[in-house]
Amino acid sequence: TDLEHLTLRPPVVTIMGHVDHGKTSLLDSIRKTRVAQGEAGGITQHIGAYHVDVDRGGEQKQVVFLDTPGHEAFTSMRARGARVTDVAILVVAADDGVQPQTREAVSHARAAEVPLIVAINKIDKEGSEPDRVKQELAELGLLPEEWGGETVMVPVSALRGDGLDTLLEMILLVTEVEELSANPNRLARGTVIEANLDRARGPVATLLVQNGTLRVGDAFVAGPVFGKIRAMIDDRGDRVESAPPSFPVEVLGLTDVPAAGDEFEVFANEKEARALAERCLQEQRQTRLQRASR
Ligand code: GTP
Ligand code: NA
Ligand code: MG
Repeated sequence: TDLEHLTLRPPVVTIMGHVDHGKTSLLDSIRKTRVAQGEAGGITQHIGAYHVDVDRGGEQKQVVFLDTPGHEAFTSMRARGARVTDVAILVVAADDGVQPQTREAVSHARAAEVPLIVAINKIDKEGSEPDRVKQELAELGLLPEEWGGETVMVPVSALRGDGLDTLLEMILLVTEVEELSANPNRLARGTVIEANLDRARGPVATLLVQNGTLRVGDAFVAGPVFGKIRAMIDDRGDRVESAPPSFPVEVLGLTDVPAAGDEFEVFANEKEARALAERCLQEQRQTRLQRASR
């Protein structure tokens, strides 16, 4: 049964916050790479998904991060991010304070009932006022621990790398008590994080495995789309044969482009999977027709 095979899985963390408050920079700094500089205009256009290895008292732990765009147009992406996540990191720039997408992120985290950790970023900057940020967050109902509240707030500088170890420590502390588990010995299921049509490779989707293990050759249904995994690429760009629980992976072999947020599920029987995808598609067409005729 599932119960006998349950093993601990890495936490999935979503990074949220107002545009340009430093979400991607923070993640880059944690990964020690340079994604933000490589982005078009420094604006995150999609959800990036990455895993990092963390050394904890000699023990290797892993944490999976989902980056989200702060631009207003991406509300649904941030809502989706909150849903698949175990902890939300709310990034607030210390020189800019609480802004519209900060408030929105708080309500997404609350709606999804996920614990929230605040990273007060850009503390290296002149004019940064961490205490003012705390005050503004307190007004939103997030009272910092040091003021007798329950919200962990970590001052950080993505630029200089300050506070990152503390932030990772807090993520592990908050998630360890939850004993997040999954069964790697079953067929995979999870959520489509993003998907697009690649000119050379056809439909490509980033899937977050939430239970089971996803393997090359697996037949699956993502929303109304059938797929048979032709190849899998991990977040470091390496070809992999399988992806365990909590891991994000890019897959090729879809017959069409699923919607971000769609759930996916692997089936032992390929025919069954194709039939299910076909039924889903028919239902979606029906709904669309009914709406159009109203
Ligand atoms: P969107 O994805 O567009 O919402 O932005 P973001 O939140 O991912 O912010 P991003 O990482 O793109 O950073 C925005 C700007 O703030 C960039 O110019 C960064 O170099 C700068 N920045 C980020 N973190 C820090 C920091 O700790 N200190 C200073 N001084 N600048 C920072
Ligand atoms: Na930006
Ligand atoms: Mg970004």
